[in-house]
Amino acid sequence: MRKGFFIVLEGPDRSGKSTQAVLLKEWLEQQGMQTILTREPGGTAISEKIRKILLDPQVKAVPVAELFLFAVSRSQHTAEIIKPALAAGKIVISDRFTMSTEAYQGYGRGLPAGMIRTVNRIATEGIKPDLTVVFDVPEQEFEKRIREAEEKNGPDRFEREDIEFRRRIQKAYRTFSRRKGIKRIDASKSIDEIQSELRVLVSETIKDDIR
Ligand code: TYD
Repeated sequence: MRKGFFIVLEGPDRSGKSTQAVLLKEWLEQQGMQTILTREPGGTAISEKIRKILLDPQVKAVPVAELFLFAVSRSQHTAEIIKPALAAGKIVISDRFTMSTEAYQGYGRGLPAGMIRTVNRIATEGIKPDLTVVFDVPEQEFEKRIREAEEKNGPDRFEREDIEFRRRIQKAYRTFSRRKGIKRIDASKSIDEIQSELRVLVSETIKDDIR
């Protein structure tokens, strides 16, 4: 049985990746490809509970504790959802993965890159995405989206972080989007344009299997 494909969408909060993930899954399924859509933190019973802790504005975790909470969530998610789906030849789309920890706990909270790499490697059992797409949000668009989100939803723990934290995240993703092997999408484009670009990137990755 052929191995599945592991696609990861990354980017700052409000970059639009979750909307795109849903559209991508629909498109792949229309072509008869078995696809699962999952997210981090989340996707399993343990991970959803950890997600609640992490996103609770009343809970204050020091950076290392936060790193480990994400790692617990990721190890369960990898073992319970991602690995079995890939072994069954499915396409797995994950809304966030290890790069989020590099961005938020590394660039955002200031934890050393080496520590994050080690924890990520343990949590993922070495599983690596076949394709990572970074949603890169240009500066002005970024500020606009923050204001809109706060007006509409009221902030959660991560959305209440100061503007400097969020700028560090945006810059981190901008830097990561230039890494070898990483694909970048301009998140200020329209939903349709982004979806078309995403489909091209995914098709290139799995081209031998799309008929
Ligand atoms: P969520 O509401 O899912 O945000 P989004 O829809 O933008 O993905 O909340 C997840 C938050 O957790 C988000 O602010 C990013 C953060 N996060 C980390 O700090 N580290 C991580 O390793 C992951 C996976 C997420």
